[in-house]
Amino acid sequence: MTEQQAKKRIEELSREIEEHNYRYYVQSKPVISDFEFDKLLEELIRLEKEFPQFLSLQSPSQRVGGQITKEFETVVHKYPMMSLGNTYSEQEVNEFDERIRKAIGNDFEYVCELKFDGVAIGLTYTKGKLLRAVTRGDGVRGDDVTVNVKTIRSIPLQLKPGNYPDEFEIRGEIILNKKEFERINQERVEIGEEPFANPRNTASGTLKMQDSTEVAKRKLDCYLYALYGENFHFKTHYDGLETARKWGFKISEHVKCCKNTKEVFDYINYWETARHQLPYEIDGVVIKINRIDQQEELGYTAKSPRWAIAYKYKAQSAATILNTVTYQVGRTGAITPVANLEPVLLAGTKVKRASLYNADQIEKLGLHIGDTVFVEKGGEIIPKITGVDLSKRPARSIPVQYITHCPECNTRLIRSEDGAVHYCPNEDGCPPQILGKMIHFTSRKAMNIEGLGSETIELFFRNGLLHNAADIYDLKEEQIAKLERMGKKSADNLMAAIEESKKVPFERVLYALGIRYVGDTVAKKIARYFKNIDAVAAASAEALQQAPEVGEKIAQSVYRYFRNKHHLRIIERLKKAGLQFKADEAMHRSGNQLQGKTIVATGTLKNYKRDEIKEVIERHGGRASGSVSSKTSFVLAGEEPGESKISKAKELGIAILSEAEFEALLNN
Ligand code: IVH
Repeated sequence: MTEQQAKKRIEELSREIEEHNYRYYVQSKPVISDFEFDKLLEELIRLEKEFPQFLSLQSPSQRVGGQITKEFETVVHKYPMMSLGNTYSEQEVNEFDERIRKAIGNDFEYVCELKFDGVAIGLTYTKGKLLRAVTRGDGVRGDDVTVNVKTIRSIPLQLKPGNYPDEFEIRGEIILNKKEFERINQERVEIGEEPFANPRNTASGTLKMQDSTEVAKRKLDCYLYALYGENFHFKTHYDGLETARKWGFKISEHVKCCKNTKEVFDYINYWETARHQLPYEIDGVVIKINRIDQQEELGYTAKSPRWAIAYKYKAQSAATILNTVTYQVGRTGAITPVANLEPVLLAGTKVKRASLYNADQIEKLGLHIGDTVFVEKGGEIIPKITGVDLSKRPARSIPVQYITHCPECNTRLIRSEDGAVHYCPNEDGCPPQILGKMIHFTSRKAMNIEGLGSETIELFFRNGLLHNAADIYDLKEEQIAKLERMGKKSADNLMAAIEESKKVPFERVLYALGIRYVGDTVAKKIARYFKNIDAVAAASAEALQQAPEVGEKIAQSVYRYFRNKHHLRIIERLKKAGLQFKADEAMHRSGNQLQGKTIVATGTLKNYKRDEIKEVIERHGGRASGSVSSKTSFVLAGEEPGESKISKAKELGIAILSEAEFEALLNN
């Protein structure tokens, strides 16, 4: 490929990929599959690597992250980032309406919008390209978080053609939807980290993360709602938003023009309940004057515009009775207290349980059994208790006493170093911990053993077949087939899936072990740094901290894990069973043996997964392609190769290599 051709192709791909991002993340109407999308992106990244002179700051490849920021630069806002006056009642809105009428008369219109509960952001565009993204900060200066913001797929890096000024700013709110928030918290609980309190905090914390690759994984979103600049061609706020929508920005579908306060109240009342069906959180409604000239006439106070106001919903709360407190034991032994309540209707759903977080929380609330408590729905699916109605406390009621022993195995609990969490230390003898560890072990991101989910694991556990991960590899088909709901066919499939899991690369095996604080990313870093389990097991806490992303807390946890004889015995058994405890050499080695070669891989390979082979080819200087053509150097054929690829190769006289021949080439 010549430079000219590369430049053209990079531009073409960038445009095409951004269009797909737009269709998927702004319009929610994707037209191609994720697989096809990934292919385009891969091609772009490869070309940009080969021709770095054509890598632009607006390239969609920037969205996958990769940059590390130690400290975010402070930037002065061109237009100060103000806040809004808050109201909580119809009366206050009516007073606002009267103030407006006094100042500009009766000829005006409102625009009502949702008040997104996220993190304010200002995006500056020059010549249609995203230049900078800055947080609110203190309103005068904020943090430049551009690298992280670029990973947000719904924010255009390059605008569609339009009549926009050379430079302008658009402001909006970065949010995290409720589902994604739950997913992130689930993952944190799984690795023994404290969950985040709500989507807004999570979004705010995510924006300030140092590793933009991690930001990219969190799937933030962004709605825009205000334009700042000169030489705009619209006269009303509403038209401004519609224009911005045409430029490619994500603008809420729920913006509404309202003629009077009655229509404003209809909007407020509608969203008061309908908001619970939205995929993201809002904490109120924003009411704005529509005409820009009237906004200018009304002006600003020191803190906020006179032409807009927020109506905030009170957190929905209900009173009910605390019946009991029970305690759940997680995979890592962490204890979570749960309040069992007299069922009560809250925000349209029946609430029976509330999370109590930890012992400190119970103490702070001063809970007694039988108390009337207030429950509130925040960002979480599970509501929380915010207070006690002391006037209703029954006589001689008993304060809630935090348990001292594990409810499952009766072992004495210990408290974490910071005192926040209680743990059951009986890691290998406490049933929910045993089960939880095995469920984690077989899960998709770990050993990915299909057919061995939580129910099956429990069934096997109850029948005495499984006590730990190593037992999985001792299972016999006859034993399985005998069990209820199993039968020969499922037993066969399960045995095959277990066998298949022996190929799972070391980094995922390390993750599967379920060491506290070792999530999939950290496991990958440790595996790549130490290369094999013996090196990890032998490393001191200080040596462990040498690996990227491993701090003191993780290092201590890993060090302690490998000082436990039971763990070492299980690892020995897993080794004997044939699991991967060494980083695959070819996977991590690089060279130029494949320089200038275009390779098509087809069929199932013994030593590489589908996405791994591509990486290996590229690490050795080659190019992986999906289809056979005259440009193909050779076809790498595994088991059951694609027939059409093989016949095409034969037709064109292209060499077909076996996996062994391919490896010999790499070892050359
Ligand atoms: S307009 C001069 N519109 O709420 C401020 N703000 O409490 C103009 N917010 O600072 C802001 N949704 O961070 C506006 N539809 C919306 C909003 C919104 C959320 C945030 C924003 C603002 C804060 C005020």
